[in-house]
Amino acid sequence: MVQNHPILVTGGAGFIGSNFILQWLTREADSVVNLDKLTYAGNLSNLEKVSSDPRYSFIHGDICDRKLVSALLQRHRPRAIVHFAAESHVDRSIHGPDDFVRTNVNGTFALLEEARAYVAEMAPSEKTTFRFLHVSTDEVYGSLGPQAPSFSEISPHAPNSPYAASKAASDHLVRAYHHTYGLPTVTTNCSNNYGPYQFPEKLIPLTILHALQGKPIPVYGDGQNVRDWLYVEDHCDAIRTVLAQGKVGETYNIGGRNEKPNLEIVQTISAILDELRPKDPVVPHSKLITFVQDRPGHDRRYAMDARKIEGELGWRPRETFETGIRKTVEWYLAHQAWIQEVTSGTYRQWMAKQYSM
Ligand code: NAD
Ligand code: DAU
Repeated sequence: MVQNHPILVTGGAGFIGSNFILQWLTREADSVVNLDKLTYAGNLSNLEKVSSDPRYSFIHGDICDRKLVSALLQRHRPRAIVHFAAESHVDRSIHGPDDFVRTNVNGTFALLEEARAYVAEMAPSEKTTFRFLHVSTDEVYGSLGPQAPSFSEISPHAPNSPYAASKAASDHLVRAYHHTYGLPTVTTNCSNNYGPYQFPEKLIPLTILHALQGKPIPVYGDGQNVRDWLYVEDHCDAIRTVLAQGKVGETYNIGGRNEKPNLEIVQTISAILDELRPKDPVVPHSKLITFVQDRPGHDRRYAMDARKIEGELGWRPRETFETGIRKTVEWYLAHQAWIQEVTSGTYRQWMAKQYSM
């Protein structure tokens, strides 16, 4: 395939997708077409820096809209699809799973079908370079006991929330489209991300915002649920690595070897804010930590074995949790206007429903 065919990114206005596009345009030559429905989680201001870059274009639309997807593929002739678009919040999937099945399962199916038709018409040389990269999660593997080894690429799927089940279904569809139709797919399963532009309903940005405002920091259950945290730019770097070098039909686990209980996460953020914001309404910020009712079916522990991507493709995370979390807190402190924007409207209604605040 000739150089400079764009890549098609789905869900590029969300947290990871927007970080990916920002990173891509500073490190890669090819242009980006961003297809995003702009749900509550999609925010075009994340991409303000690149909005006038001639290599970037935005299409407002739904991945379930097969006519639109087909027309986009014909018009832009992308050399790859990098598929982020999803409903991504576990708590929302518990309150209303319909959108999760629609976007994560039916939407992925729609993209796969249109990608299959697009690839079928390609010249053999183009077929060998085209990639469908499916971005997935560690949650598809279910929950680990305290001493169990980390999830590897051959761990069985055992999803426990509607979100995880919908992502697991999409993983299976991607696998089947490679196995049955020869679609050149690669799948990445990553652990919890954190960093700039994360919507403040997820634990880390929520903690930062509540601490700044002197509001209770809600910790589910006993706070001992463990997640494996990865700085978002390291995830984006891993996705670029898999796109460039990953073997077709393979799956790559991505993680930061940063297993931490939630209580430790909120205590760490509180301590950083004590240092950076000693005059906030409530100091020490840890006084705000409040144990609240647990998430139904809350998975106890996730941990990723990333030896395959490290050993075969040479990827390594650059940030430790200590450097990444400090950068993240500093980013939120420096971007109050962004926070104002996202904490209005739908976000507030959601917070009221979830926490009765
Ligand atoms: P996000 O919720 O911040 O963003 C999702 C984006 O998809 C939004 O811009 C939204 O508008 C868009 N979208 C939703 N439905 C759509 C549809 N039908 N058509 C087109 N666009 C649609 O999510 P995120 O945290 O950036 O996650 C991105 C991907 O990475 C997801 O597939 C998620 O499962 C996966 N993932 C996330 C994490 C994490 O920690 N956040 C970790 C591992 C994997
Ligand atoms: O593991 C990867 C997954 O990480 C991604 O696939 C999801 O898209 C992403 O949202 C994230 O899911 P989690 O459920 O792990 O993220 P969340 O930030 O919602 O919660 C992190 C942990 O913190 C989890 O154990 C629940 C807990 N928590 C969360 C919130 C929002 C709290 O204790 N209090 C809270 O208010």
